[in-house]
Amino acid sequence: MPLTMNITFCCPGSTAEPWLLGLRAALPQAQVEVWHSGAARADYAVVWAPPQQFFDEQPQLRGVFAIGAGVDALLKLRLPAQARVVRLDDAGMSVQMAEYVCQAVIRHFRELDAYAAAIAQGQWSYRKPRKRADFPVGVMGLGVLGTRVAQALAQFEFPVVGWSRSARTIEGVRCFAGAAQFKDFLAAAKVLVNLLPLTPDTQGIMCLDTLSQLQHGGYVVNVARGAHLVDEDLLALIDSGQLAGATVDVFRTEPLPPEHRFWQHPKITMTPHTAARTLRDESIAQIAGKIEAMERGEPIAGIVDPVRGY
Ligand SMILES: NC(=O)c1ccc[n+]([C@@H]2O[C@H](COP(=O)([O-])OP(=O)(O)OC[C@H]3O[C@@H](n4cnc5c(N)ncnc54)[C@H](OP(=O)(O)O)[C@@H]3O)[C@@H](O)[C@H]2O)c1
Repeated sequence: MPLTMNITFCCPGSTAEPWLLGLRAALPQAQVEVWHSGAARADYAVVWAPPQQFFDEQPQLRGVFAIGAGVDALLKLRLPAQARVVRLDDAGMSVQMAEYVCQAVIRHFRELDAYAAAIAQGQWSYRKPRKRADFPVGVMGLGVLGTRVAQALAQFEFPVVGWSRSARTIEGVRCFAGAAQFKDFLAAAKVLVNLLPLTPDTQGIMCLDTLSQLQHGGYVVNVARGAHLVDEDLLALIDSGQLAGATVDVFRTEPLPPEHRFWQHPKITMTPHTAARTLRDESIAQIAGKIEAMERGEPIAGIVDPVRGY
């Protein structure tokens, strides 16, 4: 590895010091510094939500490592032509996403909110058990996170269907692919879990038309990006009784503005974009491993296709 290798860190809003210490320990030959305007030109960057000015001043970058799985915001910027964008693949996120989605689906299926409300009123009462077969779960996006989620749901013996751009085979999951099979996928699902990347093709994909095609009494779990969902359409379908409710972790504007109807809606469960957090130690180990592989000229996983958008 060349002695001159420079790594710049640009994650406004994150505490830089532990990342710098971790990256320096993992790559002792590298100079690792926080980016500031006028900083030395670097070979690699570790970023989250960098400004355009960052890329304008770093024309030599060969690798840009996003410390998350979604790269939609990054791809809106003008990047140096030769720079490859690399997303984290898994790095401890898929197990978090699986536990989050399973709890959302199970909480809905087992009516745990209704039990909690009854208990809060001092009532010891039972509800009729529901049939798992009546709650097929559809997972949109069968990538790193969606595959793990679909497999975890199948472990709980829910019927699971999945949808992706290209055909996939996952044990225990009935897979659909491409626009031609989207209607059949929706019709086969009662609970819809979104784990698509945000691209021009997937923006607003959960709208009146598509959500109406879910089985009656459907439920939505959005854990990908806020812009996948048309909020007013979801609210209209819940208020009309067509959908039973939703669990939402991601929003068009974050933090969600105080006047937004999701805050008070009794059938919407919200969390503040926390379904799968970036784990620093796992991420540093992965980024360091990929930089070393790139330096050796070896192929690495997780390179983003800027045309495809993910
Ligand atoms: N809430 C959170 O805390 C949190 C945390 C991390 C990530 N996320 C979100 O989760 C998303 C998914 O992450 P990931 O790592 O699983 O992504 P990924 O590995 O890139 O997988 C994306 C999947 O979506 C499919 N897809 C893409 N465009 C499609 C289209 N037009 N039609 C049908 N399927 C399409 C892909 O199909 P192919 O298999 O054919 O390529 C692939 O199966 C991220 O982009 C991010 O937005 C949220």
